[in-house]
Amino acid sequence: MDETLMKAAVSPLLEWYRVCKRDLPWRKARSFYTALVSELMLQQTRVEAVKERYVLFLQRFPTPEALAAASEEEVLKMWEGLGYYSRARNLHKAAKILAAEGLPQDFNGVRALPGVGDYTAGAICSIALGLPQPAVDGNVLRILSRLYADGANIDEPATRARFSELLRAAYPPETGDFCEALMELGAIVCVPNGAPLCGECPWQALCRAHLAGEEENYPVRSEKKARRVVDATVLVLQCGDKFALEKRPAKGLLAGLWQFPFFEGDAPDLGEVVAEKRAKHIFTHVEWRMRGKLVRIDAELPRYVWATADEIARTYAVPSAFRAFMEWVR
Ligand code: ADE
Repeated sequence: MDETLMKAAVSPLLEWYRVCKRDLPWRKARSFYTALVSELMLQQTRVEAVKERYVLFLQRFPTPEALAAASEEEVLKMWEGLGYYSRARNLHKAAKILAAEGLPQDFNGVRALPGVGDYTAGAICSIALGLPQPAVDGNVLRILSRLYADGANIDEPATRARFSELLRAAYPPETGDFCEALMELGAIVCVPNGAPLCGECPWQALCRAHLAGEEENYPVRSEKKARRVVDATVLVLQCGDKFALEKRPAKGLLAGLWQFPFFEGDAPDLGEVVAEKRAKHIFTHVEWRMRGKLVRIDAELPRYVWATADEIARTYAVPSAFRAFMEWVR
């Protein structure tokens, strides 16, 4: 591939980033630990959803030692609503490793931490260790496939590997800024949905897709598989001032988190239905179409854990898939 184009693109990108970057909490004080926390939180999750939670998380767990010493339940509670909860468990495990063994110093050491894949390892190395390790996700692939007007399918590992090597060869000494500038361009200019804001782009004069007026023809992707639809019934069982909770299975979707009694298809008749509503929740590969029922009963069923609204709010991590039904919990 044409390495001169990539090298010519570095300075305009860095200059643009210095002026236009968003003021985000993880861009203030930087350490290995804060980079690890922010990059894990930002996997698959929007910056807007992460901002506030990142600050609260670091207030509660300011060091790897503080996080390592916490219970898993509390870590999950601090992750509540962010989704993909295996990230929280992995971060907890990673903090224990850092607390016991100190910080890794190279790519392989970072990549070996739980929850850290190639992209996240590249980002942490670039941001926290000053190493020229590319971090290539869908956003970076989009901006590069436009810069090069490259018609290769970005869902193919070979395409990712090719762009990754191209970046590696172009890395400037400002490794962290470069890494985040690529992300930033993909987030606020060369946006994923809708037309890119080419008028604001530092690569206007370089971008081959833009010069050809074909930015919307890139990137080329595989067709997405349709999501599987699951119909379910969720019972908010109330007995006095307590509500029934159950723990989800240890494996699979929302593993080990708390939920209201959940039934695929219909639920058994357990008592008087006092309110009903529908809600849906979209996961990466599955869509839940839920019918929620508020049911009052006279005796606590022993198969569930019973908790007051206040206890639920303070100590049980209930994923946002069930948020619509929380209005009954008071
Ligand atoms: N997405 C992943 N990492 C990010 C970062 N450091 N800043 C903004 N968005 C990101």
